[in-house]
Amino acid sequence: MTSPRHLLDFEGYGRDDVLSILDAAEAFFEVSRRPVRKVPTLRGKTIINLFYENSTRTRTSFELAGKRLSADVVNMSVAASSVKKGETLSDTVRTLEAMQPDVIVMRHGASGAPHFVAKRVRCAVVNAGDGTHAHPTQALLDAFTIRRRVGRLDNLIVAICGDIAHSRVARSAAELLALFGAEVRVTGPRTLLPRDAAALGVRVMPTLESALEGVDVVMMLRIQQERLGGTRLPSLREYSRTFGLNRELLGLAKPGALVMHPGPMNRGVEISPEVADGPSSAVLDQVEAGVAVRMAVLYRMAGEGASNPAEA
Ligand code: CP
Repeated sequence: MTSPRHLLDFEGYGRDDVLSILDAAEAFFEVSRRPVRKVPTLRGKTIINLFYENSTRTRTSFELAGKRLSADVVNMSVAASSVKKGETLSDTVRTLEAMQPDVIVMRHGASGAPHFVAKRVRCAVVNAGDGTHAHPTQALLDAFTIRRRVGRLDNLIVAICGDIAHSRVARSAAELLALFGAEVRVTGPRTLLPRDAAALGVRVMPTLESALEGVDVVMMLRIQQERLGGTRLPSLREYSRTFGLNRELLGLAKPGALVMHPGPMNRGVEISPEVADGPSSAVLDQVEAGVAVRMAVLYRMAGEGASNPAEA
C-alpha cells in the first residue's frame, strides 16, 4: 500500500507510518537543540500556512519547522486576505495552488475543510486542526512525547478528560493510540461526552476518579467555549470541582504517570497550577516535540529523495 499523499486524519496510516514519522522526528529533535538550528532538507520547497482559526503552538511550530528545513514558508493571514472580501475557500486555495506550493498546511473551523481542499489541489495538504474532527499532528507530537517520557507507546492506559465531544485532539489521540493497543478512557460532563464512543473505541468513565485509576498517561482538555454553542456548563467553578485535576487526584494514577495538555490551558479550571508546572507535567515537552514532529511531517510530504532527514 502506498503512503497517503496528504495528512488529513489517520485514515490510510498504519502503525509503521506513525513509527516512521516519530523516528524521523527523533532525528529532527536534535536539530532544534544545535547552535545552528537549520538543515537544507527542503531547500527550494514552498510551504503555505493557511490558518482560518487562532493558533499559537501549531502555527508557530509549523513555521519554525519549515524554516529549520530551509523551505520557503509563507504565513497567510486570513484576517488581512481577500477572504475578508468574500473569496471562497475553493477560490482561495486554487489561487494559492497557482503559485506552486509543495504543501498547504491548514486550520479551519469546519470539520472536513482540509478534505475539501485536498480534492481541489495537486500539492500535499496537512490538517492543522479542522473543527471538531481531527488534529493529527497534535496526536503525533503527543505520541512522540509519550514515547520519550514513558519509554514506550504499546499497551498504555490513557485517560482523556474534559470536553471530549468538541475535541479534535481527543479524536486523533484515540485513533493513533488504538494502533498501539491502548486502553483509552474518556470522562467529562455528560453533555460534553461523545455520542460515538464505541466507534471511537474509547471507554466512557462516569467520574474523573474512575478514569484516573491506574493510568499511565492523563490528557486534560480545555473547555472550548467557542464551540459550545447552546451547551452550557452550570459554572466553571463547579466544573473545576468535578473534573479539575489536582495533585491529590493525580495520586490515583500509576506512580510517575505523565500529565499532558495540548494547550492553551485554563489554569485552575481543568488543571491546577501545581500539576501544570509539576514534575509529572509534559506540557512544554509537547510544545518542543511539536517542532520536530512537524519537521518530520513536512519532510514526508515534500522531502522525497533526501536520505538522512537531519543531514540532507
Ligand atoms: N494545541 C494546539 O492546537 O494549540 P494552538 O491552538 O495554540 O495551535
